[in-house]
Amino acid sequence: MCHSIGSNKIIGPGLEGVTDRVPSPYEDWMAKWIKNNVGFRKSGNAYANQVFNDNNSTTMPVFEGILNDAQIKNIIAYLANPPKADAAITKEIQAASGTAGAEQVKTTKKPWIWLIVVGVLAIATVVLRTVRKTLQLVLSEKQHSAPPIDTNIWKDFKRWIYNNKTKFALVCISIFTLLSLYGWEYMWGIDVNQGYHPSQPINFIHKVHADDNGIACLYCHSGAEKGKVAGIPTLNVCMNCHKGIQGTNPEYQKEIAKIYYATGWDPVKGDYTNPQHPIEWNRVHSLPDFAYFNHAQHVIIGKIACQKCHGDCSSFTTNQQAATLTMGWCINCHRETPVQMEGNGYYTHLHQAIDKKFGADKKITEADMGGLECGKCHY
Ligand code: HEC
Ligand code: HEC
Ligand code: HEC
Ligand code: HEC
Ligand code: HEC
Repeated sequence: MCHSIGSNKIIGPGLEGVTDRVPSPYEDWMAKWIKNNVGFRKSGNAYANQVFNDNNSTTMPVFEGILNDAQIKNIIAYLANPPKADAAITKEIQAASGTAGAEQVKTTKKPWIWLIVVGVLAIATVVLRTVRKTLQLVLSEKQHSAPPIDTNIWKDFKRWIYNNKTKFALVCISIFTLLSLYGWEYMWGIDVNQGYHPSQPINFIHKVHADDNGIACLYCHSGAEKGKVAGIPTLNVCMNCHKGIQGTNPEYQKEIAKIYYATGWDPVKGDYTNPQHPIEWNRVHSLPDFAYFNHAQHVIIGKIACQKCHGDCSSFTTNQQAATLTMGWCINCHRETPVQMEGNGYYTHLHQAIDKKFGADKKITEADMGGLECGKCHY
């Protein structure tokens, strides 16, 4: 959070080459500084006071009692022999953060290409038919035979229907049934966007954050425990970590550089000195305005895990809408899910009344509490 292992300053100085610049033997000086830099400065150590003054007189936390001697020794050994590439990476990222954000992902749809293909095929058909007709005419003239009878597909077809009335009726009925079934399915699917996963301006991967690094959903979507909207975190929340975390591979670095581009952060100076370019995330879930859904009601009162409705986002690489979000989906769950009767202070008296009405051992679902009433979900 506070130091990079390159040369750039974050809150404290970059730690590249630190073991060469502090008074030797560096193990002793650094151990004292990390353990209790405040006491060390008070004892009058000149270099300790210089470090303090050089860094805007910002006090570093005291780690005595937090880190033991062995852990401090390990940190010093790590800094004496850090991973090599970091300084170079920082420079690359600084260069990239000027431009990377600009090349935001755009999906290019080209329906006109298909129009052109269909047009060309239509023209080719007409031209080929004309050529065939002309050739037949020329041939018949050469052989002095009668010109070919002027039939066409439509005339042939009508003759076939006339001779096969039952077969034709059967074909018609089958086609009608298939189309109706398809139409029925299609209409149920209108505006059901299950699986929708738009591309995002920053390729933010939930798996990397919520799964690999175990960050709680509510750390970023804190609104979900307080009210209706879960909310998308501001880039300030990202910068809590990404001031220091620049990514361990070029792909991550390129994406993380977009956060710097957006917030105007200069990773070398360690300050927000560049122009800002707000991120426009693409919304994934969206209920119609006439339906009311409240996160806190479900997450805090109902104690329902995010994953129950959003799928296992922690394994997604691109975020997607896991559920159908239809009214049937809401209603089914209200019919099936037993209400958590324990430990919901706000509802205790209500739950007690319901227990009395239905008997304490009946499984009480949200439907029993009025969760099927139109007015609960529709304004
Ligand atoms: C480090 C911050 C962070 C963490 C942790 C996090 N998210 Fe997200 N989440 C985001 C960002 C940024 C977006 C917007 C970009 C996107 O849609 O991929 C988002 C989008 C979403 C969306 C879609 C929002 C929409 O537009 O409809 C859902 C649902 C979601 N997160 C659920 C979760 C769940 C469930 C967890 C825990 C397993 C979680 N998130 C953990 C940052 C985070
Ligand atoms: C609690 C710390 C933390 C927060 C908060 C956080 N990240 Fe990350 N982020 C990480 C870690 C750790 C990695 C993995 C770095 C690696 O393995 O190289 C990472 C990796 C990334 C990557 C590269 C992998 C990928 O997902 O494509 C991007 C982009 C990223 N974060 C964007 C964001 C955005 C945007 C936010 C704010 C919504 C955010 N991060 C908030 C810790 C955090
Ligand atoms: C009972 C089902 C359910 C649960 C549980 C749930 N969500 Fe949602 N979530 C939804 C629905 C429905 C929407 C669409 C809301 C809308 O469009 O008004 C949504 C939308 C979102 C959004 C985008 C829109 C917004 O409200 O900001 C995010 C982010 C999100 N959920 C995150 C979470 C997180 C994190 C959790 C767990 C703490 C969670 N959700 C738990 C059903 C659920
Ligand atoms: C995973 C199951 C689940 C899904 C899906 C779900 N709900 Fe719920 N819902 C619950 C439970 C459980 C409660 C009861 C919480 C409590 O009071 O203990 C609840 C409560 C509610 C309430 C409060 C009702 C009251 O009695 O005051 C509303 C409103 C609501 N849900 C709307 C919705 C809407 C709208 C959707 C669909 C977009 C939805 N829910 C999807 C489980 C679900
Ligand atoms: C548990 C919450 C819930 C309850 C209770 C509920 N609805 Fe809905 N309803 C929804 C949601 C969410 C949608 C939006 C579904 C979608 O976008 O596909 C919806 C959609 C609808 C639509 C479709 C509108 C359209 O344009 O497609 C109608 C009509 C409707 N509800 C009527 C009712 C009536 C009448 C009742 C009472 C008998 C009722 N609803 C009870 C959640 C609920």
